Amino acid sequence: MSTIAVFGSTGQTGHRIVDRLAHDGHDVLAISRRPTGGDSPRIRTAAADLTHTSVDELCEILSGIDAVVFAAAGDPIRVDRDGALRVIDAAERAGVTRFVLITGMGVGRPRPSEYYGGFWDTYFGAKEASERALRTSTLAWTILQPGELLNERGRGHVELAPTGSLPISAVTRDDVAAVVGAVVDRADTAGHGWELVHGDRTIEGAIERAVRR
Ligand SMILES: NC(=O)c1ccc[n+]([C@@H]2O[C@H](COP(=O)([O-])OP(=O)(O)OC[C@H]3O[C@@H](n4cnc5c(N)ncnc54)[C@H](OP(=O)(O)O)[C@@H]3O)[C@@H](O)[C@H]2O)c1
Repeated sequence: MSTIAVFGSTGQTGHRIVDRLAHDGHDVLAISRRPTGGDSPRIRTAAADLTHTSVDELCEILSGIDAVVFAAAGDPIRVDRDGALRVIDAAERAGVTRFVLITGMGVGRPRPSEYYGGFWDTYFGAKEASERALRTSTLAWTILQPGELLNERGRGHVELAPTGSLPISAVTRDDVAAVVGAVVDRADTAGHGWELVHGDRTIEGAIERAVRR
């Protein structure tokens, strides 16, 4: 059991991650601008606006935290890039050891033609910068690059593979939360970045295979 901070805790994926981690027996610090606690006594909340909160303030919030999950998304430059960079910096300074970052399928690989230009270049550039900062940090990191996120019920079966090796596809937010819950406790997933879409393997089976590839 660990104490895990989740940024983006009120989000469609973030709240599922919070619930999953609490269900798995972790103590969870749920962080967003207007956080809500959920039902479990294991869930505490903290408010932070990633466009404003300083690294020092984030360090205080992250005091005593073992692992961070970053599932926030907002303004690509101010939240997805600069907010993530400040959280990574603060996590290192606060003595956090583990960091799971959610970016998106299309980072670090060719994208379908409709995902180029304007907003998309900014969005993918921001996500790529956050990945770069985490990969070069001292944290034990895992990066998940999900395809299009769906709100339908989780299937419990996914595919995980290194960047650029899967066809562009989709995955449910339930399954992303389940994968986060499974990787956060596994030291052997540190140092890996994987695309994540729906597939035929159980979550543990997909992780096992991805770790060994
Ligand atoms: N949508 C997709 O199809 C897709 C595909 C691949 C990857 N992704 C990525 O997957 C992750 C989850 O996506 P999602 O669609 O489930 O997220 P979402 O529902 O849009 O949730 C975003 C979260 O970020 C928080 N947030 C926004 N601005 C903030 C700020 N200034 N300071 C602090 N927190 C802020 C929001 O909380 P408050 O508003 O309460 O602060 C919310 O909890 C994101 O990283 C996203 O980029 C999305």
